[in-house]
Amino acid sequence: MSRLCEGRVAIVTGAGRGVGREHALLLAAHGAKVVVNDIGAAVDGSGKDTSPASEVVAAIKKAGGEAVANGEDVSSWKGAKALIDAAIAHFGKLDILINNAGILRDRMLTNMDESEWDSVIQVHLKGTFAPSRHAAAYWRDESKKIGGPVKGRIINTSSTSGIYGNVGQTNYGAAKAGIAAFTIIAARELRRYGVTVNAISPTALTRMTEGLRQLTPEEAAIRDPKWVSPTVVYLASEEAQDITGRVIQAGLGRIAVCEGWRRGAEVGQVADPATAGSLVREMITKVRKNSGMDGLELD
Ligand SMILES: NC(=O)c1ccc[n+]([C@@H]2O[C@H](COP(=O)([O-])OP(=O)(O)OC[C@H]3O[C@@H](n4cnc5c(N)ncnc54)[C@H](O)[C@@H]3O)[C@@H](O)[C@H]2O)c1
Repeated sequence: MSRLCEGRVAIVTGAGRGVGREHALLLAAHGAKVVVNDIGAAVDGSGKDTSPASEVVAAIKKAGGEAVANGEDVSSWKGAKALIDAAIAHFGKLDILINNAGILRDRMLTNMDESEWDSVIQVHLKGTFAPSRHAAAYWRDESKKIGGPVKGRIINTSSTSGIYGNVGQTNYGAAKAGIAAFTIIAARELRRYGVTVNAISPTALTRMTEGLRQLTPEEAAIRDPKWVSPTVVYLASEEAQDITGRVIQAGLGRIAVCEGWRRGAEVGQVADPATAGSLVREMITKVRKNSGMDGLELD
């Protein structure tokens, strides 16, 4: 097996368990030095615990890799800056940022309260923006210093809930759709510095998804979070310099490249609302339908 990330320095946020843990372990197995960030929160974002991140660091070291634990809150501007600075201070540079940390506070829209909305948007959306912003400024400066591309990587974590839409998750889905949009825009902005920005949309059996329904051993096996990480490790490698602005589904038996919004049928603008209405109705019959949670068109 060729090691794809030899000597590269990676941060994985929310890497104490679940999908992030697998990213950290596979990156280390591929030669990356890993900052294992995790605040150690409960699924709903409450509480703190340093032990999940420390356990992952111990597992990486036991396998002969290099890693350091970090307990910063990625959704805080200062915490995110401290995380980026810690990676550079400890390993001398930063090549890869994997924004994976997340929480869930599901509720139907009619009942969702302000804190359920705010906390989910904060952890996912700001927790993606803040580390990316500090890493991007670092890579811009490095690129100017060396007078060329830096081969930096940002890999964000979206969700089928955001790109396709899942009932009960207006907060989470809006954050995850926002992360997909953030990915496309940041990719366009950072290309000039040699930084690629992609997003993964994982499906995996973790504490976030366990208990949704009873699974057979086979169903559980294809949902093992380890199936998400190979795509992430490839995107993190220097070999993936030409792949940017993509949202890629991984897990549940497949890797799939997602297609984004694009203009469908169109007509010239009209002043009369009734005419606009009949034209819109006619166009709706001609265009592709929105997709369901399986990524295929709804009936
Ligand atoms: N499991 C799935 O099927 C699935 C599907 C779609 C998207 N995702 C996304 O994948 C990512 C990982 O999810 P998971 O299933 O492994 O969940 P998980 O709960 O096992 O792991 C998430 C980790 O993030 C950490 N975290 C939460 N808030 C943090 C903060 N502010 N700062 C630092 N760390 C923080 C938690 O402590 C936890 O260890 C999330 O972004 C999630 O939304 C997962």
